[in-house]
Amino acid sequence: MKNIFPKDFLWGASSSAFQIEGAWDEDGKGMTVADFNSFKKSEIQADSKVATDFYHHWKEDIDLMKELGLKTYRFSLSWARIIPTGDGEINKAGIDFYNKVIDYLIECDITPFVTLYHFDLPYALVEKYNGWENRECAFAFERYAKVCFENFGDRVKYWQPHNEQNLMMRVKERMNIYETDAYLVEKIRAQMDYHMSLAHALATNACHEMVEGGKIGPSISATVTYPYSNKPEDVWAAKLNDNFKTNYLLDMHYNGEYPGYYMRYLEELDIVPNMLKEDKEILKKAKMDFIAFNYYRTLCARHLDATTENPKGTRESEIDYDLYGYFKIEKNPNLKATEYGAQIDPVGMRIALNEYYNKYHLPLIITENGLGTGDVLTEDERVHDDYRIDYLRDHIDACRKGIEDGVELMGYCPWSVIDLLSSHQGFKKRYGFVYINREDHDFKDLRRIKKDSYYWYQEVIKSNGENL
Ligand code: BG6
Repeated sequence: MKNIFPKDFLWGASSSAFQIEGAWDEDGKGMTVADFNSFKKSEIQADSKVATDFYHHWKEDIDLMKELGLKTYRFSLSWARIIPTGDGEINKAGIDFYNKVIDYLIECDITPFVTLYHFDLPYALVEKYNGWENRECAFAFERYAKVCFENFGDRVKYWQPHNEQNLMMRVKERMNIYETDAYLVEKIRAQMDYHMSLAHALATNACHEMVEGGKIGPSISATVTYPYSNKPEDVWAAKLNDNFKTNYLLDMHYNGEYPGYYMRYLEELDIVPNMLKEDKEILKKAKMDFIAFNYYRTLCARHLDATTENPKGTRESEIDYDLYGYFKIEKNPNLKATEYGAQIDPVGMRIALNEYYNKYHLPLIITENGLGTGDVLTEDERVHDDYRIDYLRDHIDACRKGIEDGVELMGYCPWSVIDLLSSHQGFKKRYGFVYINREDHDFKDLRRIKKDSYYWYQEVIKSNGENL
């Protein structure tokens, strides 16, 4: 295989604070929305109380990253560990913890790639003013971002404001929306989404002002949707799905305003958020330095016949937020899926690379991509995860092809560096290169065991992508 990965390619791996750290209330940390949601499922699966216990194993874990050969580690800071109430006192213990982690990463020659917010809004902000629904939340985020830039910006040069804003805002419990009236849900959601974009812009501008050489960009969940057939309506349905799930937000970050089709949707549903005149300048000024995206699968959209399958059959249903009136997401018969239903599709990743790059001409980085499944620890202390190796190999090959297509790809960070708390399925679903010896309700000894994929990825990095 021809080696075309640039010399300084950021071979990495990812995690997020609530999924890895544990120590959910230690040393002054406040509770988060992610903790709250995970505690609700405590009886049926692992929660964020211990997770992978990175808080107490950080040095050992970074040693494993070093041995793996990582050039970068993409992780998130816990806002509530740094500012327990979200907008109040700063917790020195939180700053100290992240300083230790960042210093040791640098000592190990691993570039820190930091997300400020990964599903874990401080719960106090929900209690105070229902989180993102209130404009103040955007300014609380700006302050938090500034605290991070001030304390870590001398060493951390890569930043991301939010993880997967476009996906997060669609999941009611992540946004803490408990309203049941469908219209109000959409209205609140649109307002929250706008405030998050404003927060994104405020943090971007602050990063450019405060961090010398700092680069900042969003981390979006990539949506690539295929038409179910070559019927024009199916093709249009696929386009709508990409536009409403991902592209509208990239356009907002890029242009500082929503694209026309999105404004039309907001207007026709009568859910235009409150957007102040003074925001315009903030949004327009905030220029992304790169686009990071998380990629797991592709989708397939089938148009619903207006008379038989979609009784609503109106234009209104076409722009219904979830768009279910107009089309339905179907299984793609051409693709295999993981046991959790994600359709495995490396070609889709090449499509995303080409589309985003050719539209925005900004460097790209993949901040998540991986296979979640129940791994088995064998008696000889190994995990033979050849299925994961196959998955990653095919996706790295798609990166290679993307680079050959002319895409400027800065790096590739599989999810996840070590096993961690799945955001849906606790510890049953594992993604890591390193196995953590625990089950949902049995912490065992939390021993770290390198999987076969660890040794394989080590060789990939060592050969700069030549030995797949
Ligand atoms: C991404 C999130 O959407 O998907 C991660 O950024 C998450 O936090 C990952 O873990 C995989 O999803 P899950 O539900 O399998 O953990």
